[in-house]
Amino acid sequence: MKSPPASTPAATEIPHLRKQGTATQMIVDGKPFLLLAGELGNNTPSSLEYMKSVWPTLLKTGLNSALAAVSWAQIEPQEGKFDFGALDGVIQGARANNLHLVLLWFGSWKNGESTYPPDWVKRDFKRFPRTQRTEGQSAEVLSPFSDANRDADARAFAALMHHVKAVDGQRHTVIMIQVENEIETCDHSPAARQFYAGPVPKELMDFLASHKDTLIPELREAWEATGFKTSGTWEEVFGQTAAAGEISMGWAFARYVGRVAEAGKAEYPIPMYLNSPGSGFRKGQRAAGCPCGGAPMPDLMDVWHAGAPKIDIFSPDIYGGDYPLMCARYTRSGNPLFIPETRGFPPNNLAARVLYAFGRHDAIGLSPMGIERPPAPDIELTSAYNVIRQLAPLISAHQGDGTMSAVTLSAKDPPLKIKVGTWTLEASFVMPRTQPPAPPPPTPVWNAAAIFIQTGPEEFYAAGTGVNVRFIPDTPGPPLAGLATVEEGVFVNGRWVPGRRMAGDDTGSRSLVLPRLHDEPVDRPALFGPSQKGIQRVTLYRFE
Ligand code: DGJ
Repeated sequence: MKSPPASTPAATEIPHLRKQGTATQMIVDGKPFLLLAGELGNNTPSSLEYMKSVWPTLLKTGLNSALAAVSWAQIEPQEGKFDFGALDGVIQGARANNLHLVLLWFGSWKNGESTYPPDWVKRDFKRFPRTQRTEGQSAEVLSPFSDANRDADARAFAALMHHVKAVDGQRHTVIMIQVENEIETCDHSPAARQFYAGPVPKELMDFLASHKDTLIPELREAWEATGFKTSGTWEEVFGQTAAAGEISMGWAFARYVGRVAEAGKAEYPIPMYLNSPGSGFRKGQRAAGCPCGGAPMPDLMDVWHAGAPKIDIFSPDIYGGDYPLMCARYTRSGNPLFIPETRGFPPNNLAARVLYAFGRHDAIGLSPMGIERPPAPDIELTSAYNVIRQLAPLISAHQGDGTMSAVTLSAKDPPLKIKVGTWTLEASFVMPRTQPPAPPPPTPVWNAAAIFIQTGPEEFYAAGTGVNVRFIPDTPGPPLAGLATVEEGVFVNGRWVPGRRMAGDDTGSRSLVLPRLHDEPVDRPALFGPSQKGIQRVTLYRFE
């Protein structure tokens, strides 16, 4: 996509965060902007053909922003050679549909696995080492203890941010970036054990000492239990509990992701955040004897701030559980609330989640996950966003000064008192007039079936419905096989026409998933024949 000469916009012109009282606001083109967003499925944006049937759904839902993943494998198929064709198409599509974008960088890690690095990284175990879930057994998870992994990710992310500035630095379609996705893992590799047996880095100890009085309570508690030791191994300083493993892995991830974020910000410093479903340290568990966990979640916010200072926001993915409690935990220490993933679960349906996030916690934005999936468009979400859109000028004016709040209540809750400005409000639940919807029909019984064709030493085509398959090599060489590239598509006149690149949710970590064909949204015109998910092409790589 051609773009005007990339003049460097002044910092105040590009999307940025601004404090207003106790609140933090997203400022886009000089005005506060509330993200009424929705996150696309992991691999939806990888095919512009597939996106053609998605844009209308986003419009009908009443979004003003969409969260769209950018895969490392897709933008750097060969080392040093970049292809931004799909991303440019998504940016153009967003502009055509009057939407802003939050881009999700699926780089080294996605849900604790490495399914989005390019094949040239996945195949080279020597240059790009992996973690070990059990000692001696490689996992398909890039090691956070490798400079080569970190630097390759940082180079690709910097290239992405350089391109975003070049094509969008004046238009500001892209307003924020998520770096990686739901980072966490345990690592029993020799490199990890050596790190864990070593001293807590002075840089981290100095940061904790200088922020001792404002640390997140749970982190402070773990440190206080050993008398606020200022040197020693991770377990000597933080105790022989799961917290020591979490803090050590949190530091390892923070230093790595911090360098990635730094490289991206150096190209185009729009706001960047991390996401996690985590709520806190696993209580009462003994230490795993290795760095284990490390997610950018509330109890580790200080460690992540120390290791990755360029990250602006720590964001919760909130599905089940206690929604108000998760919102409260992620807004400690002044952390702004942006919820990149959620769904409506009783008692907090989507409308309740929307109103509560913006009203009670001055949220920057909220985004249900899988926004294009049935029953999209979600009329309850649309109505809630419509209310917030109308109230936006008032909300923005009243954020951070105590004159706005919200409640969320279920039928069993007693009346709830809240302070709003110079008043106390007592809120109670109103029984709905309409009956709850009838229970869903029982899951139909059906047979699963699939056909597999090997078309190369490490290549298959597979077609089927409802089958999950792993690949085990029968030829000499490394005994294990992982998925290198997976794509859906069809044959047209004998020629393979690829559609979306699949990874993350649409594949297992080491297995191909052929979903039930009738899972496809029946109202979406099939892009490639009976079902674009019916046929998949997979290439494999072997390891031990
Ligand atoms: C959380 C992840 O961040 C998403 O990408 C997705 O995998 C959901 N879990 C499950 O759909």
